[in-house]
Amino acid sequence: MKSFIGIALILIAGLAVSIWIGFHTKMAEGTLPYDDDQKGIQDQVVIKFSHVVAENTPKGLAAQRFAKRVNEKSNGQIKIEVIPNGGLYSDQEELEALQSGDVQMIAPATTKLSSFSPKWQILDLPYAMPTRESIIKALNGDIGNTLLQSLEEKNMKGLTLWINGFKQITTNDGPVVHPDDLSGQNLRIMPSKVLEKQFDLVGAKAVGLDFNDTYRLLESKELNGEENTISNIYSKKFFDVQSHLTISNHGFLGYAVIMNDEFWNKLTKQQQRIISEALDEATRWNQTQSFAMNEEQLALIERNSSIDIHYLTKEEKREWAKRWEPVYRAFKSEIGDDLLSKMIQLRDSYNDF
Ligand code: LMR
Repeated sequence: MKSFIGIALILIAGLAVSIWIGFHTKMAEGTLPYDDDQKGIQDQVVIKFSHVVAENTPKGLAAQRFAKRVNEKSNGQIKIEVIPNGGLYSDQEELEALQSGDVQMIAPATTKLSSFSPKWQILDLPYAMPTRESIIKALNGDIGNTLLQSLEEKNMKGLTLWINGFKQITTNDGPVVHPDDLSGQNLRIMPSKVLEKQFDLVGAKAVGLDFNDTYRLLESKELNGEENTISNIYSKKFFDVQSHLTISNHGFLGYAVIMNDEFWNKLTKQQQRIISEALDEATRWNQTQSFAMNEEQLALIERNSSIDIHYLTKEEKREWAKRWEPVYRAFKSEIGDDLLSKMIQLRDSYNDF
């Protein structure tokens, strides 16, 4: 009996202590002093920045630099989470994800904006920007500004333009030296009417497909070839599943860095300023480094792979450019006279390749 009373007393005491601890903790929570650090975390702005290419590319590295500078400039109050390699969304999905606010920032190839606004097709015209200088002039001048502004009608905030580089042609059915060498080939392109027309004019069948499906389709030989920059050919190892590479520099591949515009408008002026300044720095870096990266990676492909490489001569480039001239006429009304004349003027002022 005695031991029963003893056990009961111990249990009652234990219960009383637990109730006291619980109550005390609740009181303590209610009276917790204001904590700056916790407020900081609650107020931190997180921006998801999704893109489809590898990290070791002009876009991948510019995005990382941008994220680092935003973090430094905002003392950690703005965090840019960069998600590369289509880890979050494929290139087809990312534009919708941006518009619905599921992701706050993307940097699609400018080609992929042409279905929203046909003016963007101007950057895909073959040999429109035949030199590095002409690319930088077009992007940083009137042409680039007009294009970025055109996104406002689509509720997107166009922030800046980045460069990857010149597109080249790879195939399993080469060498590709003259336009007719592509006749009958099945090629992967970014979805674009200009690019379809471009390859149609040389007798190839070009299909707009997701970037991250390209390697598999080339490897399984469902496709003969594709066009892309050296940086994408290198980082995605297309050279392993292709026998011929033609250095044609026939087209431009670059990016529009875009934010969901409702999200942008909700940022404070100071947050917008930090983002704009960090982007300016990343853009300057991108515009000076992208061509060098493509060159270094071409040297690596040349050294470490067995792909056969042909460099088009100036005469050969002229032959391709002539064959593709009708693309300009075909898209004149969609692009608009004014913008197209500016591009042709720029192209002709660099009348050599
Ligand atoms: C492609 O689809 O080939 C490119 O747009 C990929 C990229 O973002 O560079």
